[in-house]
Amino acid sequence: MKREQWGSRVGFIMAAVGSAIGLGNIWRFPYMAYENGGGAFFIPYLFAMLSAGIPFMIMEFSLGHKMRGAAPRVFAKLGRRLEWLGWFQVLVAFVIAVYYVAVIGWSISYLGFSFSQSWGSDPNAFFFTEYLQLGDNSPSNLGNIQSHILVPVIIAWLITFSAVFSGVKGGIERASKIMMPLLFIMVIGLILRMAFLPGAIEGLNYLFKPDFSKIMDASVWSAAYGQIFFTLSVGFAIMLAYSSYLPKDSDISNNAFMTVMINCGFSILAGIMIFSILGYMADQQGVAITEVVKAGVGLAFVTIPTAINLLPAPYILGPLFFLALTVAGLSSMISIIEAVTSAVIDKTGYSRKKAATIVCGVALAVSTAFTTNGGLLLLDVVDYFMNNVGILGSCLLELLVVGWMLKGLPELKEYANRRSELMIGDWFVWCLRFISPAILLVILGTNFVGLLQ
Ligand code: PHE
Ligand code: NA
Repeated sequence: MKREQWGSRVGFIMAAVGSAIGLGNIWRFPYMAYENGGGAFFIPYLFAMLSAGIPFMIMEFSLGHKMRGAAPRVFAKLGRRLEWLGWFQVLVAFVIAVYYVAVIGWSISYLGFSFSQSWGSDPNAFFFTEYLQLGDNSPSNLGNIQSHILVPVIIAWLITFSAVFSGVKGGIERASKIMMPLLFIMVIGLILRMAFLPGAIEGLNYLFKPDFSKIMDASVWSAAYGQIFFTLSVGFAIMLAYSSYLPKDSDISNNAFMTVMINCGFSILAGIMIFSILGYMADQQGVAITEVVKAGVGLAFVTIPTAINLLPAPYILGPLFFLALTVAGLSSMISIIEAVTSAVIDKTGYSRKKAATIVCGVALAVSTAFTTNGGLLLLDVVDYFMNNVGILGSCLLELLVVGWMLKGLPELKEYANRRSELMIGDWFVWCLRFISPAILLVILGTNFVGLLQ
C-alpha cells in the first residue's frame, strides 16, 4: 500500500506547527521567561533554539522522510534490535495523550463558562471545589468519574479522532490549515485589545526587562534547553511520524527551520498576551505583578478567569482566550494520537480507520481516570514525571542511539543537504553529538536529584 502524503508544503508546516504550539507555549513559556531573567532569557533561549531545537528538528524530519515510517519502524530500520526505542517513544506519546486530553476538556468547559463568567467572583474555589470537586476527596470518592468533566473530554476525543480517522491529508492537514491561522488571529486580536489596557505596559516590562545577572546561572540555561525540547514536540515519535508523510522531493531543512521559528515566534506572542493581562489585573487589584504571575493549570483556570472578570467585554475576550487554548491543545493532541496510530498501522497493517478507532478507544478509556475526583492529583504526578524524566529521557536516548551508537549524523546531514537549498554544516553533527546530550544529562541529573529529595 502506498504511504499517505501531505497535500502541500504549507499543509505539512501547519500540521508540524500545530503539534509544536500547544498548552506549553501559552502557559509555560511566558512564566519561564519571566522567571529566568526576563529579556535576558532570550539569549539562552535563542542559543538553545539554534544549537538544539533546529538540529533536532532537521534530524527527525530526515529520519522520518528517509525511513518512511512511524517511530518503531524508523528505529527498526536503523538497527534490528532498536525497535523498542520507537515503541518507548510511542508509549511516552500515549501517556501524554491521556492526560493532555483532560486539560483540553477543562478548557472546553471553561470556553462554555466564559460567555457569562459562570466561575463567579472566586475562580479559585470554583475551579478546585466546584469544577474538579477536590473537596470531595475521601478515598472512597477518588475513583468517581465526573460526568461534567467526562463530557468535554469526550468532545475533545471526538475532534481528535475525526481528524486522525480522516487521514493525513483529508483530516490532519485540513484541520491544521483551519486551526493554525485561526489561532494566530485570535491571539493577535487578544493582544491588540489587552496591550492597551492600563497596567499592561507594566506587565510587559516585567516580562521583557532584562536581568543580565541571570545569564551566568546554570539553571537558567537548563531551563532554556528544557523548554526547547518540550515545546518542539521532538524526541517522542511525533515529528518522525509527521515527516514520514512528506513527498520525496521536500526541502527538509527549510521545513524544520520554519517550524521552529513559527513555534518560537508564537511563544513570544503568547508571552505578550499573558503579561498584558497579568499587568492589567495587578493594576486593577492594586497589587504587585509578582503576586499574580503563575504558570500551568493555576494560570489558565484560576488567574485568567479572575482577570477576565475585570476586563471590559469579558464575554468576548474570555471566549477568545479559551477557544485559543482549546485550539492550541487540540492540534497537539491530534499529533500525539497520529504518532501512536501510525505506529500501529505500520506494525499491524490495519487500515487507518481501524487503527485510529482502536487507539482512540483504548486511550479514551484510560483517560477517564483523569475525570475522577482524584484526577488532578494523578495528573500532577504523571505530568511532573513526563516533563522531568519521560520527554527528556526519550530525547537523550534518541541522540545516543543515532549520534553515538550508529554514528549516523554525518550521513543524515548529507541526506538533508541533498534535499535543501539551506545547506547545513558540521555544526549539525556537533550540536547533536555533544552539546545536546551533555545538556540533557545535566538536566536529567538535576531532576533525578530533585525527585529523590
Ligand atoms: N509542544 C507542545 C507544547 O508546547 C507540547 C506537546 C505537544 C506535548 C505534543 C505533548 C504532545 O505545548
Ligand atoms: Na497545538
